[in-house]
Amino acid sequence: MEWTRIYEGKAKILYETGESESFVQSFKDDATAFNALKKGTILHKGPINCQFSSTLFPMLENKGIPTHFLGRVAPNAMKIRRLKMVPLEVVVRNRVAGSLVKRLGLNEGTELLHPVLEWYYKRDDLGDPIVNRDHIDVLRLASHAVLAEVERLARKTNDVLVPFFAGKDILLVDMKLEFGVGESGKVCLGDEISADTCRFWDSKTLDKMDKDRFRQDLGQVEEHYLELFRRVVGHDPEF
Ligand code: TMP
Ligand code: ASP
Repeated sequence: MEWTRIYEGKAKILYETGESESFVQSFKDDATAFNALKKGTILHKGPINCQFSSTLFPMLENKGIPTHFLGRVAPNAMKIRRLKMVPLEVVVRNRVAGSLVKRLGLNEGTELLHPVLEWYYKRDDLGDPIVNRDHIDVLRLASHAVLAEVERLARKTNDVLVPFFAGKDILLVDMKLEFGVGESGKVCLGDEISADTCRFWDSKTLDKMDKDRFRQDLGQVEEHYLELFRRVVGHDPEF
């Protein structure tokens, strides 16, 4: 079946495949940071992130979190349900890192009393600004009912993933999730869950095993993506 490219983002490409209910999303090795001011590639990142996400989505489905995942179709590509995406990035934080260090003046690594959820408006031209519920409402980005369901599912995703990763000696420091609404009106988790979109620290050494290695020029980026994958998935990725 011919795939027609309909959208290309910084890390993924979306294709139409002739099926009205699905798309294919493929994962690129390209990496960007700071709203694409920094650009590079991470060897094998595409297949690693695709297969990492392909492991987590079915696990989350089993725990009652609907996702867009329909199956993997190539080492770096998965079939996904068509969703009308909510133009928000939902960040859930368990420890202080990244932009929260600057925003609240707390030390990196500080444990938060409870998970902190933040909303960011997906607008590259504005640099994805942080927004509150009133902003979301006046911009009509999502209805109250959809937003409430997105928040419930984001918190539940965190509640499932924190112990899952802890069992593999990994701290889930924070993560960014995206949601969309399916045909039936059901809110589903979309996008990806990977070392590009989460912060993962080795729980014993606090070593960073995620895209911060690229953002902060920490070195051994590929090695850490691979080590994280092996620890979580239990075998080597397929390239
Ligand atoms: P932040 O601390 O930079 O706000 O990032 C919070 C989390 O969101 C972190 O796990 C990285 C992830 N993230 C993305 O996936 N995409 C982005 O564009 C940004 C800024 C962060
Ligand atoms: N993905 C974002 C960008 O390029 C930022 C990030 O992940 O840090 O710009």
